[in-house]
Amino acid sequence: MASLTLGSKSPSTYTGHTLVLGVGGTGENPAVLASDDLPRALAKQLDSVVSAVSPSTKVGETAVLAAVPGAKADTLVLVGLGEEPGTDALRRAAGAGVRAAGKGPVALALPHGDAAGLTAIAEGALGGDYTFTTHKSAQETDGDREITVFTPLGRKEDPKGALARAEIVARGVRWARDLVNTAPNLLYPQTFTEQVQQVATASPGKLGVEVLDEEALADGGFGGIVGVGQGSSRPPRIVTLSYTPKSKKAKHVALIGKGITFDSGGVCIKPSASMATMKSDMAGAAAVAATVVAAAELELPVAVTGYLCLAENMPGGNAQRPGDVVTMRNGTTVEIIDTDAEGRMVLADGLSLAAESGPDQMFDVATLTGACVVALGPDVFGVMANDDDVRSAITDAAERADEPSWPLPLPTGLRAQLDSPVADIAHKGGRMGGALTAGLFLQEFTKGADGEQIPWAHLDIAGPSFNESGAKDHLPKGGTGVAVGTLLEHIATLA
Ligand code: BES
Ligand code: MN
Ligand code: ZN
Repeated sequence: MASLTLGSKSPSTYTGHTLVLGVGGTGENPAVLASDDLPRALAKQLDSVVSAVSPSTKVGETAVLAAVPGAKADTLVLVGLGEEPGTDALRRAAGAGVRAAGKGPVALALPHGDAAGLTAIAEGALGGDYTFTTHKSAQETDGDREITVFTPLGRKEDPKGALARAEIVARGVRWARDLVNTAPNLLYPQTFTEQVQQVATASPGKLGVEVLDEEALADGGFGGIVGVGQGSSRPPRIVTLSYTPKSKKAKHVALIGKGITFDSGGVCIKPSASMATMKSDMAGAAAVAATVVAAAELELPVAVTGYLCLAENMPGGNAQRPGDVVTMRNGTTVEIIDTDAEGRMVLADGLSLAAESGPDQMFDVATLTGACVVALGPDVFGVMANDDDVRSAITDAAERADEPSWPLPLPTGLRAQLDSPVADIAHKGGRMGGALTAGLFLQEFTKGADGEQIPWAHLDIAGPSFNESGAKDHLPKGGTGVAVGTLLEHIATLA
């Protein structure tokens, strides 16, 4: 990953390859906006450049210019910031600016007045710098370039600390993206598990890993994940990744991730067009793993346990059938209606396991339903909860992390769709409101040992976890790492 350096002195003295400056204001009166006052000569040059080129002030749109007298960088990138740039515009502009800069050392001098702005610029820059090279035989080496961030903030605001934290968050996002992008013949429950073990061991954070393999899952009564995994030659796992802070009084958050390393649909097989991106069906587990590691490295004073529910949904000879009845970890019997509704089955067992340890709050993260994408579009994740405060806390955290989200209801009136004539519950309702009946099913598995509901929210990230269109701003094509930022923002508020 590129490294971040704090720019001291004026951006005009930056001698690296590319300097990124902002252009803001209204379309008719664009003006160059920098982190600090620019030397008068350079400001004048830029004024005449702007009136000659009229660069776009739309957030994330860029103009690349050859050297300008008064600035030492070889190239200048002007990136649109909109009228009044908040953190979202800064994050996007930084990502777009770094991508437009191409290869070589780059510096950003974008206007901001607080640490949140600096963090958004730093995270956006590292996000835009991402490329996925794992499967390229000729490894590109410019992945380690230096990114300089100019800031007007003084020591009291600890800009160094802000950059260090941004690096930890960005490394987590990058790992989640890599996991999502990795080919599904190479990333499956066992290799996912091994990667988590390696990362946990190599991390400076204090992390513990426990693995339930297929035998332990069968012995432990995890009928949901065992049923989903039994059609694949590559058996399922539940990996528990935990971070325990020093303080004994810390709150405890459980994160449960859907980790279907490939979703063929099982015997209710998907049409090939819908299957094309289903290597990304483990994006929830990737986000959870990355969040726990980052929380440990940030030394947040909150205990965080991740449960990665890893399975491959395949139509092998031993695959689950519609009509099967399985007994879940918490003893509930479930009638299988559609083997393509597999995510809720692995998550339900993960939620039950998490609930056994009595956490203060639980969050599951899952590429759960196409219905959620129909409802909210490809960029917004849905948030359902058994607790209004927890739901608002997540949508608020998502807003601070610049990850678009929206609350969805869990209407009790739809619960009857999950009634089963043969088992305690069916796992699927009708087509209408499919994201909500999935949420209602999960809600059945959020009771603690005392029978009380544990405050819980469900994040359906089916849309924004995988970017099928081109790279845009700080988001690359393919895996995005969505939810890592939101979860870390939320966990930090519990400190
Ligand atoms: N993994 C899919 C959901 C999905 C769809 C994620 C599109 C990302 C993009 C999930 O397992 C699934 O197949 N859901 C079904 C549910 C149905 C069978 C109740 C769906 O959305 O059609
Ligand atoms: Mn499915
Ligand atoms: Zn799925």
